[in-house]
Amino acid sequence: MIIANWKCNGNKAMINEWTNNFLSNYIETKKAFIGIAPPSIYIESLLGTKLNKLEEINIGSQDIDISSGARTGAISSEMILDFDCKFSIIGHSERRQLFNERNDEIKQKILKIAKKTITILCIGETLEENKNELTRDVLKKQLEVVKDIELNNSLVIAYEPVWAIGTGNTPTPNNINEIHKFIKDVVQSTSDNSAFPLVLYGGSVNQDNAESFFKEKFIDGALIGGASLDGKKFANIINIFNGTK
Ligand code: PGA
Repeated sequence: MIIANWKCNGNKAMINEWTNNFLSNYIETKKAFIGIAPPSIYIESLLGTKLNKLEEINIGSQDIDISSGARTGAISSEMILDFDCKFSIIGHSERRQLFNERNDEIKQKILKIAKKTITILCIGETLEENKNELTRDVLKKQLEVVKDIELNNSLVIAYEPVWAIGTGNTPTPNNINEIHKFIKDVVQSTSDNSAFPLVLYGGSVNQDNAESFFKEKFIDGALIGGASLDGKKFANIINIFNGTK
């Protein structure tokens, strides 16, 4: 599974250029689930491109709100489902840090969509927590949101160390692999029905380092920010994942 998170980037012209660059570089195979999460206002534009004709390409949302109603600026789970979004990212570290999202809100969001569409829950430690060897404690705490929830195969975890996002720094592939194993074990022992989720890695993934991550047993794919803004680079990463390049 390879997911593009465009964050608050892009415009109509970029979507056309991105689509052309992606389609001229992507080697078609149905192997990987490919997701693109544009800013919500562009979801419909992307659904209208040729990308949407490829079965393996799925358009999703970067977040949802905890409910509908009098919540100015928000987008509800019902709305993204209305647009046929096939996944939503939840709990990205930028949501936690810039918008003060807490575990209880994140849990409410998961409860809203987990049974209806794929939920990509982001977790990750800060640099300070990493230096103080608190990574596993922090992740375990963030994973408490899945406690006692009956999850089907729709839950995916994205391990995104905050210090690796947009910095060019990453943990070693082996370190990530060990953390992913830990995450799978924690989710299996805390969810109501012993779910064993896919775990994606996110944080400065690019076409040069992708292969080193994808070789690892417990790295099931990637969540990509910066490198996903270029259709060619994003296609190349998928080709590497699919082994077609
Ligand atoms: P990055 O972002 O690939 O630019 O590091 C990843 C993310 O925030 O999901």
